[in-house]
This record gives sequence, structure tokens and C-alpha cells, in this order.
Amino acid sequence: MIPKISTLGGYIFEYQKSVTNPTGFWSNIADSFYWRKKWDQALEWDFTKGHVKWYEGAKLNITENIFERHMFFRGQQPAIIWEPNDPSEAHRTLTYEALFLETKKFANVLLASGIKKGDRVAIYMPMVPELVISMLACARIGAIHSVTFAGFSAQSLSERLQDAGAKLLITSDGGFRGSKTIPIKQIADEAMGSCKCVSKAIVLRRTGENVPMLAGRDFWWHELMENSSVENAAETMDAEDPLFILYTSGSTGKPKGLVHSTAGYMVYSAYTFRNIFQYGDGDIYFCSADIGWITGHSYLVYGPLLAGATSLMFEGVPTWPDAGRFWEIIDKHQVNQFYTAPTAIRSLMALGMEWLESKNLSSLKVLGTVGEPINEAAWHWYHDHIGKNRCPIVDTWWQTETGGIMISPYAGITPTKPSYATLPVMGIQPMIVDPEGKQLMGNSVEGNLCIGYPWPGMARTIWGDHDRFVKTYFSTYPGLYFTGDGVKRDEDGYYRILGRVDDVINVSGHRLGTAEIENAINEHPLVDESAVVGFPHPIKGQGIYAYVVCPQFSTGGEEGIRNSIMLAVSHMIGPFARPDKIQIVSGLPKTRSGKIMRRILMKIAEGKTSEFGDTSTLLDPEIVNEIVKGSESIR
Ligand code: WTA
Repeated sequence: MIPKISTLGGYIFEYQKSVTNPTGFWSNIADSFYWRKKWDQALEWDFTKGHVKWYEGAKLNITENIFERHMFFRGQQPAIIWEPNDPSEAHRTLTYEALFLETKKFANVLLASGIKKGDRVAIYMPMVPELVISMLACARIGAIHSVTFAGFSAQSLSERLQDAGAKLLITSDGGFRGSKTIPIKQIADEAMGSCKCVSKAIVLRRTGENVPMLAGRDFWWHELMENSSVENAAETMDAEDPLFILYTSGSTGKPKGLVHSTAGYMVYSAYTFRNIFQYGDGDIYFCSADIGWITGHSYLVYGPLLAGATSLMFEGVPTWPDAGRFWEIIDKHQVNQFYTAPTAIRSLMALGMEWLESKNLSSLKVLGTVGEPINEAAWHWYHDHIGKNRCPIVDTWWQTETGGIMISPYAGITPTKPSYATLPVMGIQPMIVDPEGKQLMGNSVEGNLCIGYPWPGMARTIWGDHDRFVKTYFSTYPGLYFTGDGVKRDEDGYYRILGRVDDVINVSGHRLGTAEIENAINEHPLVDESAVVGFPHPIKGQGIYAYVVCPQFSTGGEEGIRNSIMLAVSHMIGPFARPDKIQIVSGLPKTRSGKIMRRILMKIAEGKTSEFGDTSTLLDPEIVNEIVKGSESIR
């Protein structure tokens, strides 16, 4: 069993120990796992080179830690409870034994398809149990999975397939999301058509619609599984062998394929899951995130399954068939821990109390939030109306790069404060630095958030581009990992995340690079250039505001050009990246050296048009007045 902290005194005592002797701490936690061979060295690291290795010399397979390790006591316990999009369709329960069986069968399908240890397998699927089976089957045979969120466009999927050099794509005919049916196979076909590496696709039947199957390339999941053997011996993996690649947006360039390791990620995701949520035997845990994002990887699949938990997976959306769906699921399955994003809380809060009326939420013990700052009003609503004033809220701060939760209350143990992620997880050493890199000591300070020491769950590199990894995370403040977030440490030593300090925005908990959206907009034939910034949005946290220069555009056709820009963004990235506001401008405010002054554009987007600060470096100050004037009709 993974050790669990159960008192505040225990937290404080253990935390001190964990930062004085991190390798001792993480070796002790690792002892509760099953290793084919134990490590020779707990940690080797050099942040200046972006070099980190945990548990070197160890041999293991992560799926043996999910299945073989739990089978004796938990074989008949539900591992996954799957709630379909349509509440009238029956839910499915997969016990640890059933999930194990399917994983082994599908692992054999992958082997028979020519997939070997180290090969990359891409997954583009709706939220169905077969998505979990696909990931675990990859891990079983040592293939590296790369899941792409099914809301991404064909173009984005294709870029990811090529960057990872994926040999095989696992997908489905379509997917259900609320009242919509998503043509997943059609998008996958388009993506595969524009990349050479994928030679085979395995297609799950989910919606039952007619989809073309390319002979020799596309194969039905159910046909391949029919005669697949249930015997499968797990591949032996080294501690540092990659487990998966997951793409995320940065402030520049194309999305980065972050690589997570096998052993360190296993130990960290399981430890944090069990401790932060205080999961206990028999509990039903529900994380509403999509597996296409890191939250789904770490806290729907790996963390819970490694800890022997029952993880509830939901295919649909919180507002369909009505805005009571989450609460109905919690009531129906007697959920004990519920983990969601502030955006979901804000949007449900805005839809009124009536959706809660007939729902019994008394099974809930712990509530969690992730992905973006939670404002106080949403925190209180969640606390009062969902948690009925008795469930602690864990506001968990972390990133795709960190692999697991880094700063968060331990549920029911750490006293909470609305909108504060509170205190670090064991072994995590947060540091606050000023723009010059000077560490700000003591309490009541504000600056950029860095981490001063490695932890097992951290990403090890960017797929195919280690230099970019070093440059992005370890060169701004040499010797430290730089998170890209601003933070405040208050008078009690509690951390409050203030949001990104780089050109990354967080829209409904989805992380997007402004440069990525600009590139998509600039693809439009009438667009010369554009600048995208975030602005405070009551539901989404941040909205997307695009300033677009289209010299050939004739007034009167604004609606048309806006729509076609939206389409371009949907096509290049996905519908979730569409700007909320588009302002056509004749130029952008630039410095004499040609740099766009985003600070000014952010203020305008926020409606604060008299707080521009120093504008003396502007090449053409007049353009600012013009943009301010134009912005009035955008609001
Ligand atoms: C933001 C999601 C405030 C932050 C797990 C971070 C948060 C980015 C919180 C990572 C939180 C995440 N409070 N902000 N509790 N959690 N963030 O990679 O800006 O999708 O850098 O990982 O989300 O987003 P990502």
C-alpha cells in the first residue's frame, strides 16, 4: 500500500524530511510497488542540461503494478465505471480482472500488428473504456502511446502523428458528445492522408455509422480482438523508458511532445492520487477530465489504477441532456471524490440551482479542481452547494510537464483558503524568483514560480528536441525548472497561482499558445498579420481576443471575414481554439524594433484603455487610439 499522510502534523513532519532527503523519501514510496529489479541509484540529475533520471537500473512494467499487483485482492473490484453520453444507454463496469483481460488481448493485437517496444502508437478516440485499454496495452508491450484529444482538428492530429513518428493509429468510427456526433474516423482519415508514417489503423465501432475502411490499412477493433489470446507476458522496461508522449502548447512554435518516463511517473502519479484525494478502499472516484489532456492521463487512468481505485469515466458533457448531469452521475454511482475544472463549475453555477434540486450528493467526501485559477465565487459555490460545507476542496496546481500535482491541499488535512493551491506536495521545492532571477525568500512575496529540485513525475524531454526542453524550462533561471506561472506566497506561506506570465492562455482549462492561434489566423488568405491575447472571461477563465490586419478587406464584410477566420482556426487547431472576439485593425502597436506590444493589446482587450504605462517606444502611437476606438464596438 502506498503510504498515506493522515494529519497536518504528519504532513509538516514528512514534508521537512522529504525535502531534506528527497531520494530517501521517494525510495520509500517506491518500495510499495512491484519491481522486477530494484534501482541501483534513486536519482541522477543536472538541471542545467535538463537531465533527470529516477530509479536508474530498475526493471518493471507499469501494467504489472496495475494488474498483477492488485489481482489477488481486487480482481472483482470495479476498476473502471463508464457512464455513457446518453443516460438511457447502460453504463459499463470493468473489474480489474476484466480490464486486465481486455488489456492483454489488445496487447496481443498490437504485437500481431507489428508493434514493438519503443514504437509510437497514436490514439485519437472518444471517452470510452477502449481508450484506457489502448493505453494500457501499449504500456504492456512497451510501446509509447501518444493520445490526442478528440477535439483537435485533422491538421493538428497529423502534425502530432508526424512529430511522434507514429506507426499505428487507434481510433473509432465516431464519438458522441452531448447532442453531437463527432466524425472521428473522417478526421483521422484526413490526418493519416497527410502523413506517411502511419501504416495501420485500428478502428473501434462506437457510433455504428458507416465509415470507409481502407483495405490493408484499416482494421476493425472487434474483428482483431475476436481470436486474440488472453495470455500476455508484460515486456520488461527500464525505469527511464518513455511511457507516453503528450503534446502541449507553449509560448512559441508548434506544440511540444512532452515525454514521461515509466518508473518516476508511476510512483508520482500514484502517490499524489492517493494522498491528495485521500482515496480509501471502496471509494468511487470521478475525474471529469478528458483523457486527451494530462489530467486524464494521471488522475483518471494511471494514478487511480495504480492505487487500486475505482475510477469513473464519463463520455459526455456536463450540460447534456441537462445541466444536472454531473450531479446525477454522482448520485447514481455514489461518487466519493469528484475532480473537475473551474470552468465547469462556473458554467453550471451560471445555469442555476434548479439542476441540483433532486440530486443526493451526500456520498461526496472530497472535491477537487484543476487546470486554471478558481475564483472565490466559484470556490464558495462548489463548497456550499456541491460539498454542502463538509467536503474539503483540493485546488491542485500542476502542469503537463510536471506529470502530477505539485501544490495542493491534502484533502481534509491541509486547512484550505479559497483560490489558494496552499502548500507543496512532498519533495516539491517551490521557489519564487523576480524577473532577474533573484530568489525571493520569506512570506508575502510575489514573482515567477520555479521548482528547485527534481521530482519523479517530471517530464524528461521534448520528443526529438532535447535542446528545446532545456531552453524552455531550464535556461530562463539556470539551475531551476521554470513553470511559466506567476505566483504569490502569502503571509502564511500559502501559494496562490496568479496565471501564466508567458504567451500561453488558458481557455476553459485548455492550454493554448497565442502564437499557435496567430499562425492559424495568418493562414487566411486575406490576413497580413495578427496578434492574439487572452482577456478575463466570466465562464471560460480567459477568452481569446484576436487583432487582425486585413488590408484588402472592405468594410461591411466584417461578419464574413470573422466567420472565415473562425473556420480557419477550427480547421488548423480545433473548434475550442476559436477566438471569442475578432477586431479588424489597420496595424498593430509595435516598438521601433518591430516587436508587438502585447501589454497594450491585453489592456484594450480587458477594457482598461487608460492604463497603458510607458508607450514612448511605440513606432506609431496613433494606431493605439484607433484600436481603442474600434474595440468599443467589439465589446
Ligand atoms: C494552469 C493542467 C491555477 C497553470 C494540469 C499551469 C492552474 C497550466 C492550476 C498547466 C490551478 C493548472 N490553479 N492555475 N490549480 N492548475 N493551472 O499543462 O497556468 O494543461 O501552468 O496542465 O494550467 O496546464 P496543463
